[in-house]
Amino acid sequence: MTKPLVDAAVAGFDVETVAGFDVEKIRADFPILHQQVNGQPLVYLDNAATTQKPNAVIDAICDYYRSDNSNVHRGAHALADRATVKFESAREKVAQFLNAPKAKQIIWTRGTTESINLVAACWGKINLQAGDRILISAMEHHSNIVPWQLIAQVTGAKIEAIPVDANGNINMLAFDTMLDAHVKMVAVGHVSNAMGTINPIEKIITLAHAVGARVLVDGAQAVSHWAVDVQKLNCDFYVFSSHKLFGPTGLGVLYGKEDLLNAMPPYQGGGEMIETVSFAGTTFNQLPYKFEAGTPDIAGAIGLGAAIDYLNSLDRLAAAAHEQSLLNYAEEKARATAGLKLVGTATNKTSVMSFLLEGTHPADVGVLLDKQGIAVRTGNHCAQPIMDQFGIPGTVRASFSFYNTFAEVDRLFAAIEKAKTFLF
Ligand code: ALA
Repeated sequence: MTKPLVDAAVAGFDVETVAGFDVEKIRADFPILHQQVNGQPLVYLDNAATTQKPNAVIDAICDYYRSDNSNVHRGAHALADRATVKFESAREKVAQFLNAPKAKQIIWTRGTTESINLVAACWGKINLQAGDRILISAMEHHSNIVPWQLIAQVTGAKIEAIPVDANGNINMLAFDTMLDAHVKMVAVGHVSNAMGTINPIEKIITLAHAVGARVLVDGAQAVSHWAVDVQKLNCDFYVFSSHKLFGPTGLGVLYGKEDLLNAMPPYQGGGEMIETVSFAGTTFNQLPYKFEAGTPDIAGAIGLGAAIDYLNSLDRLAAAAHEQSLLNYAEEKARATAGLKLVGTATNKTSVMSFLLEGTHPADVGVLLDKQGIAVRTGNHCAQPIMDQFGIPGTVRASFSFYNTFAEVDRLFAAIEKAKTFLF
């Protein structure tokens, strides 16, 4: 069941949204959205950089600090018990969210970046040697390039980029021909942060496994849009950041297959990751604690657990349909805007619209939009190689979440027209 939207109808565009998806009700859950910026109501379109937090997440973090604050796993008192139960229940929620077989396959990290660094360092240390090949795509975020460069320097493995076409699609034929028994790791983004391309990850995993390679999927830009099932994907590692899933900053998730995680050496040394310590030597804890040295981000995990509960309370299919409608509506308007060029027009995309205004620098456009209360990101989006391939310094990126509205897309384009009067 769908119903037309008034503002879209006014604009003469036949966009529809899913009936029952009440965006105003959802917006009421996000206090930050209801403010003025530079004298205008805020239009927050920087969701690929970080998503906003619903009251449920803010309250869960405050409640923890107000009522339960304690260290986990080690206190012989009620507060420590409560903190530990909440902390471990958040891990269970993440495991269910990803459909991971066991909660111990969920490792807490500081973010997607640290999760990839952990796999590159620990898995790479025991599995890579000179002559081995690591394949990444040409559109990867720096955090899925540099950790592999670091381990390649140590092991003598080589990194090669899977080509990406002018629209932002991975070249699957080229990928297929690159695969051989020397490829030990394929590390790719589920979704490109710079362009929104949804990569054909199932096919990539199947092809990589056929030559015996392992696959790490950077899910930072995917998890906020749809339900990910790591067992169905059959990926070896899946990583994401809490703050891109409506949770707090400073926390990340690493999912890994149990046998791979068990075989990997620890990442950092310290408390919690040990079983016994003596000056003669140390033995290490079991999963997941082997990879969690030091006091973890307890409040962060509890906040992420609350974010997952919040998402589970929504109709996620309706939310995804709403986001796609916003993207379609925005891209249609973009195509009708003189002097605007879309960057990233892949066949399958999440709600990310990257663009350039003819003859202008993205940073200038960003400033002029900000003056009108519109928050976007500008620059190379930590994806310099793909920007270099396209011969551009960067883009202006508007990224939509389910709490954005069609009226906000209208505001964006009105602001672009105004910016043009200053720039053209
Ligand atoms: N990786 C984040 C982005 O794309 C920060 O904006």
